[in-house]
Amino acid sequence: MKKKFELNADYQPESFEFSKDFQPKVGEIIGRYPEGRQQSAVMPLLDLVQRQTAEEGAKVDPPYGGWVPRAAMDHIAEILEMPPIKVYEVATFYSMYNTAPVGKYLVQFCTTTPCQLCGSDEIVKAATEHLGIGMNESTEDGKFSLMEVECLGACVNAPMVQINDDYYEDLTAESMKEVLDLLAEDMKPKIGSQKGRRASMALSGPTSLKEQAKKAGVV
Ligand code: FES
Repeated sequence: MKKKFELNADYQPESFEFSKDFQPKVGEIIGRYPEGRQQSAVMPLLDLVQRQTAEEGAKVDPPYGGWVPRAAMDHIAEILEMPPIKVYEVATFYSMYNTAPVGKYLVQFCTTTPCQLCGSDEIVKAATEHLGIGMNESTEDGKFSLMEVECLGACVNAPMVQINDDYYEDLTAESMKEVLDLLAEDMKPKIGSQKGRRASMALSGPTSLKEQAKKAGVV
């Protein structure tokens, strides 16, 4: 479920600027679009904001994760010469933009049919009980937030979750807890299949397209 967007909430900063590391990327992104079509840059610029706030949030105590403050949406509207409401509409429509502060590690559970049939209920139960929080909540130490999303396109390796930019697939209640424990220590869990599956082929290896799998170097 999408987190609530509150324009005047206490956590909204007064202003937003791209930092000197991120500023050059703004011009590069806008330059990808033809003259007169610069408003198409709204989505990558919202993503850029989220990456900057994630970098800033990782350095403070308690930490926080990437999100898009209202002031940043207003800043993008100004840069792209579009009404702020149009930026708000995009930011609040897509689940990939966080319009309120989140934990350093945002755990997105896919609970759509293939993941649900393969056990996403147990994955959600394991994570919520392990962290002691519910869906759309964050841990007090700022490390984790949980949310439920629709299909993330990795159904073959269901059940799966996305944590920040990484996918963790073929999960069990146990492997879900192990991933969370490693992240709690800011260590890097193995991404992808937790059962050793390569790409999206059968656990025992390719059963078709064997030549292509060889060429791709996955067997
Ligand atoms: S249903 Fe979960 S990734 Fe598609």
